[in-house]
Amino acid sequence: MARSALLNVMVQAAMKAGRSLSRDFGEVQNLQVSMKGPGDYVSQADRKAEEIIFQELSKGRPGYGFLMEERGVVEGDDGQHRWLVDPLDGTTNFLHGLPMFSVSIALERQGQIVAAVIYNPAMDELYTAERGGGAFLNDRRLRVAGRRALSDTVIGTGVPHLGRGHHGKYLVELRNVMAEVSGIRRYGSVALDLAYVAAGRLDGFWEAGLSAWDIAAGILLVREAGGFASDLEGGQDMLETGGICAGNELIHRALLKTVRLPYQPS
Ligand code: IPD
Ligand code: CA
Ligand code: CA
Ligand code: CA
Repeated sequence: MARSALLNVMVQAAMKAGRSLSRDFGEVQNLQVSMKGPGDYVSQADRKAEEIIFQELSKGRPGYGFLMEERGVVEGDDGQHRWLVDPLDGTTNFLHGLPMFSVSIALERQGQIVAAVIYNPAMDELYTAERGGGAFLNDRRLRVAGRRALSDTVIGTGVPHLGRGHHGKYLVELRNVMAEVSGIRRYGSVALDLAYVAAGRLDGFWEAGLSAWDIAAGILLVREAGGFASDLEGGQDMLETGGICAGNELIHRALLKTVRLPYQPS
């Protein structure tokens, strides 16, 4: 498969960061770890991977701006482009020796997501998409799953870290969805969750409380695989609100409706 020059720059950055993560994954017990907030860890591995991506992308496309999880905002000179980077999505998994983690890189041009790369080094799975050009897993073109009834679906979610006494809204959503679907999964890397929706492995996904770097690449993958993504109100403010619901057209609609139902004893 011939990739564009832009995707090549992104793939090279993601795979180089992925190799660094793989090395650190092998000796995770030696890493320095600190806490940014309840349940929110950051390690040397996150920072090293982010530095690699920053260097590679700056070299490949000088002047573009950045929004990176650990480093924050780096203003660019060109005023049109912004990279959204999560160097290690699934830090908690990584630190527990669970291989469900990924590198996520998206490019925005004039506020529109135009290119995406998600890489899981442990499984050597590389997901790529460019606006209008389709979504791919390695060389294989992706298509969202075709299931039509919520009762047949396996749905992914993320469990937000809200602190004691603040889980009420999520528990209502979870109960509502559990009552309708055939299975629920919580893998721990939202970038991979969305890549799995694009690949038809998950029929749908929802989560709240996310950041733009978590989901920007995944949103493009889902869309380019023929799927639908919205925020939890049904609008397009996913990056601003941090809420996301995704699936094929029918499952997206049904899941969104179910997530938004009031409490129902089940
Ligand atoms: C986290 C993961 C997780 C999601 C959290 C995210 P991080 O990202 O994507 O699946 O449930 O909300 O913060 O911190 O490991 O990059
Ligand atoms: Ca984090
Ligand atoms: Ca993340
Ligand atoms: Ca991260």
